[in-house]
This record gives sequence, structure tokens and C-alpha cells, in this order.
Amino acid sequence: SASPLVSSATLSDTYSETIEFADIEWDNLGFGLTPTDYMYVMKCARGGTFSKGELQRFGNIELSPSAGVLNYGQGLFEGLKAYRKQDGNILLFRPEENALRMQIGAERMCMPAPTVEQFVEAVKDTVLANKRWVPPAGKGSLYIRPLLMGSGPILGLAPSPEYTFLIYVSPVGNYFKEGLAPINLIVESDLHRATPGGTGGVKTIGNYAAVLKAQSAAKAKGYSDVLYLDCVHKRYLEEVSSCNIFVVKGNVISTPAIKGTILPGITRKSIIDVARSQGFQVEERLVSVDELLDADEVFCTGTAVVVSPVGSITYLGKKVSYANGVGVVSEQLYTALTRLQMGISQDEMNWTVQL
Ligand code: COI
Repeated sequence: SASPLVSSATLSDTYSETIEFADIEWDNLGFGLTPTDYMYVMKCARGGTFSKGELQRFGNIELSPSAGVLNYGQGLFEGLKAYRKQDGNILLFRPEENALRMQIGAERMCMPAPTVEQFVEAVKDTVLANKRWVPPAGKGSLYIRPLLMGSGPILGLAPSPEYTFLIYVSPVGNYFKEGLAPINLIVESDLHRATPGGTGGVKTIGNYAAVLKAQSAAKAKGYSDVLYLDCVHKRYLEEVSSCNIFVVKGNVISTPAIKGTILPGITRKSIIDVARSQGFQVEERLVSVDELLDADEVFCTGTAVVVSPVGSITYLGKKVSYANGVGVVSEQLYTALTRLQMGISQDEMNWTVQL
């Protein structure tokens, strides 16, 4: 079933040649789904390898009620973004990192995965097919959501007989309703998102369903999101529902080390490199919840959230507030990263891929 194409408008004033844009309100994008024109679909049998995918009109997909992903959660997702440069060209940010992370996750979830080349080519094809949905420079980005799922029917608990790799895209703006303003977190002391030996370190869909209960409760109390602690000591920071966390004290920036229970964020890894290149000392280690008390700044990183400053954290009924407004370190790192992603500054790390 084809989704209806909306009529297109042109914004020719900012670009040397006329670029066709979808006819939507580009100034008010939040982080929600705007259906676009095409999605990419590639299938493969259990024990086989992915070979050839295709672009299809964006729309609903058909699945057996006994599909592995629906019954046993055999599924992974990824997230990356395409930005439009001032000159109208489109940039991807480190897409091969997402491809590699999907391969690691697929191994954990007993699924075949596309090769890095297949993944990156499929992302490029999908973005180009939907290029009128890449927001004008400075108005947001095109969020790219690759999925890998057990799509074949299975009843007994076992790997699915068939797998589907699918990519859809949507133009997005800021993730939190606060926009770029600081978010307010609450530490969750009872519920956990991951356990040692579990799947917290891969981007399996179930990790995200597991946070909904605490997240809903936090939002109902006016918090932006939840900060999780490790499930063994209930003392060390893990991550926020949708992003990694960093704590700033003087010239030292600390973030929980990757040890299987924390999602190895690509923005996390990029921010570590950017911060080091700017002279900060970055430590990946156990970060105790007590360190939140005397931190100068706290910020979150993720593809969807980019770099989000934290305004306050509430733990066991006590609220700690940070910097009036956005902290200087968070601001500096946000600016450095987004200027790279948008092609404003020189890409010395060779992280961007122009379409
Ligand atoms: C992303 O940041 O891209 C993610 O996958 C997190 C998701 C909860 C929006």
C-alpha cells in the first residue's frame, strides 16, 4: 500500500540551485514520525546471507503472527542521522559504525547481519530516495532507523527461519520537549534496564521496552527521563533510557565504561574523541551516583538527543541542580560535534560521508 505523496515546495533562496523539499512545516519539527516516500527492505533465510535488497514505497509490512520478532523479541535497531549542509549537499555521520554495531548485536541475538558495505549502501540509497525529506540546513535532520528482525514464523523458542533488514527515515528536530534547554532526570533505584551477561550492550528492541515503565512514571512526575544505576551495587551510573551520560568536574569528563550493560553509543565515542582533542581529560570508568553531588555539569549524548545538558538530577528525593542554563562544557562539545555533523567545520576525523 503506497503512502500518499504530499505536494512539494521549493526553498531556493538559501541554495545556489533549487532543491525540492517536501511540503511540511520545517520550523516545528520534534522527534516524531513523519511518513516519507521509500523504505529499504532486504530478506535472508536462517543460515544464509543477505544478498539483494530493494526500495519500496513506505508503508505497513506484513508479518506472520508467529514471527520471531513478535513472539520472542528477536530484533535490533539502529539510529543515525543525515544533515543538509549550507550548500545543499547531504552528510551522513559515521554510518559504518552503526553497521558494525548491528553486526555485533546480530551475533548476540542469533541473527544474520548485512555486511558493512551493504548496510552503508542501503542507508545511502534510502536517504537519496527520500532526499526531499532531509530538512533545510539548521532546521533539523533526517533520522534513519535501520531494523533487523526475525520475520519468519516460529512457535518453539528458536531463531527465526527468515530475517528482514529494513530502513525507514523521518525528518526530526529536538528529541526532548525542552529543546536544547537542560533536562531534568530522576535516578531509578529499583528497576534496571540491563544485567551482566544480558543484552544491555547491544541495541536489541527489548532493552527499550524495559525502560517504559520507569520512564512513564518519571514523565508523569514532570521529569524528562530516567537515569539507571547498575543492578549489582545499585550505585554506579549506567545510562539514561535513550542516551549515555557524562559527568564534568573541572577539566575531567567521566562516563561509565562499556562493560556489557551499557549501550556503546556512537555519539558517546565521538564526544570522547572531540573532548580529548579539545584538551579535556576523559575517563571511562565506574562513576558513582555520589559523584553527581559535586559535579560541575552533567550531559547526555545520543544520536537522537545529540548532546543534551542536564539541569537537575533527583536521587532518593534529593535534587541536585547544575549551571544556570546550559553548562559551558556541554555547550562547547555540542557546538563542536554538530558543526562537524553539519559540515560547517573541517572534518579532520573523516567521520562524515557526503551523498
Ligand atoms: C538514538 O539515539 O538514535 C536511539 O536509538 C535512541 C532511541 C531511544 C531514540
